[in-house]
Amino acid sequence: MAVGVFDSGLGGLTVLDAVARELPEVPFVYYGDNAHAPYGVRDADDIFALTCRGVERLWDEGCDLVILACNTASAAALKRMQETWVPADKRVLGVFVPLIEALTERQWGDNSPPREVAVKHVALFATPATVASRAFQRELAFRAIGVDVEAQPCGGVVDAIEQGDEILAEALVRSHVEALKRRMPRPEAAILGCTHYPLMEGTFRAALGPEVRVFSQADLVAESLKDYLARRPEFLGPGRVSRFLTTGDPQRVSDKATQFLRRPIRFEAA
Ligand code: DGL
Repeated sequence: MAVGVFDSGLGGLTVLDAVARELPEVPFVYYGDNAHAPYGVRDADDIFALTCRGVERLWDEGCDLVILACNTASAAALKRMQETWVPADKRVLGVFVPLIEALTERQWGDNSPPREVAVKHVALFATPATVASRAFQRELAFRAIGVDVEAQPCGGVVDAIEQGDEILAEALVRSHVEALKRRMPRPEAAILGCTHYPLMEGTFRAALGPEVRVFSQADLVAESLKDYLARRPEFLGPGRVSRFLTTGDPQRVSDKATQFLRRPIRFEAA
């Protein structure tokens, strides 16, 4: 009854931790495409091809349901995958919609017309590809009116995290927050729209200040997955074993994962 969790690299581990906490009885298989990270600077065709390859590998592990724990893949590839590629007996879900439902105070599947919501000024931090896709703004516009979104493409942050360079990652986060605040001095809410960024959450929060509400994507995705599996238990696949797979060097990736999550994690070659 395993579920797959896909990311370009280490960031999806923030989602994996949250879903494993919410569903302790479910085995999860993680796939990090570390050899090809970062995705945020790649074009949509490239992201589509790499994401499909990773998802297929997770299907081979008996995971009929795969979470794209990657905003870049969710923004640039998921719609095309669902429309042209995913067979009827499999599911691939993204990480965007639970976040936007929380921001717009909606229950799952509430497709009523867009309406005014409490939050008016939202800062979005994401990879260059996610920002360029405008997928966040598109999904938000289906559900809310009158929300001003200022998006900051955070070039370099995923790369620094994947290299294990926390000092560089912190410096980049601070400069991206400053750049955003020059354009939107008083955001009410901030979205960390890349699953790598919670690894730097303390730095984001310190730079944003205590009055900005930071939405935790990982927890929202975990709640949403629990709800989904209660409604569609048939998508708990036949897999029985939790594993961590990487296209990168397993030892190196294990070391970085252990460094960032502060607990031992052992990756195997995908
Ligand atoms: N964790 C991925 C995301 O959520 C990072 C993408 C990348 O590799 O640039 O967007």
